[in-house]
Amino acid sequence: MTPSELDRLLSERHSCRAFRPDPVPKAHIEQILTSASRAPSWCNAQPWDIVITSGEETDAFRTALQNEVATGAPKPDLPFPTAYNGVYQARRRDCGWALYEAVGVERGDRAGSARQMMENFALFGAPHCAIISSPADLGPYGAMDCGGFVMAFTLAAKALGVATIPQAAVASYGAFLHRYFDIPDDRLILCAISFGYSDAEHPANGFRTERAGLDEIVSWVG
Ligand SMILES: Cc1cc2nc3c(=O)[nH]c(=O)nc-3n(C[C@H](O)[C@H](O)[C@H](O)COP(=O)(O)O)c2cc1C
Repeated sequence: MTPSELDRLLSERHSCRAFRPDPVPKAHIEQILTSASRAPSWCNAQPWDIVITSGEETDAFRTALQNEVATGAPKPDLPFPTAYNGVYQARRRDCGWALYEAVGVERGDRAGSARQMMENFALFGAPHCAIISSPADLGPYGAMDCGGFVMAFTLAAKALGVATIPQAAVASYGAFLHRYFDIPDDRLILCAISFGYSDAEHPANGFRTERAGLDEIVSWVG
């Protein structure tokens, strides 16, 4: 792979928020997982463990999750960010507004933005969902290693034409996920990745996020 091919893969990956229902062949899911497992981890601990749903089990999970959201309270294993300030708040707003603009939700339309938010719990219509967990003992470094796994997963998927979206929203119902998938309490549920084939014409997929320039993120020393 040339540097420009790698850059194209990185640049063209984006979070997909509307999927077609057709499933990804098992062999391709296995290839994505095998490639993602090449992610580095501290001491090569490879702390990731992945539950993957397919077919009717994805639909059953989607229904159960939506039911949990309607009746239960969020309880993530990892504490959610306490605040987004300054540039982080601005970037968060920009990507939120880009999404709402794409799907026709006007600023101030709280019911509309809540409706779009709830699409998270319908897994954006994806035919598959991966739930990623890490041993609690490994703490933030286990989570960091799994972040690399998530990134590698999204790129390996993209290389096979498979669209993805990492979702903290799903992990906010951590206690429910532990029960539903029988994930032991000594593991932290970090995020989900919904995946499948993009409904490319859907308005929710009709925008792309920006990135800060190097002058904003790098301090050169020497
Ligand atoms: C750990 C993690 C959790 C995320 N959780 C959500 C989520 O719950 N819902 C959502 O719509 N997007 C979620 N995203 C997607 C981000 O909004 C997205 O990556 C970011 O806006 C950059 O856009 P891009 O992925 O299209 O490049 C998450 C991304 C990451 C890495």
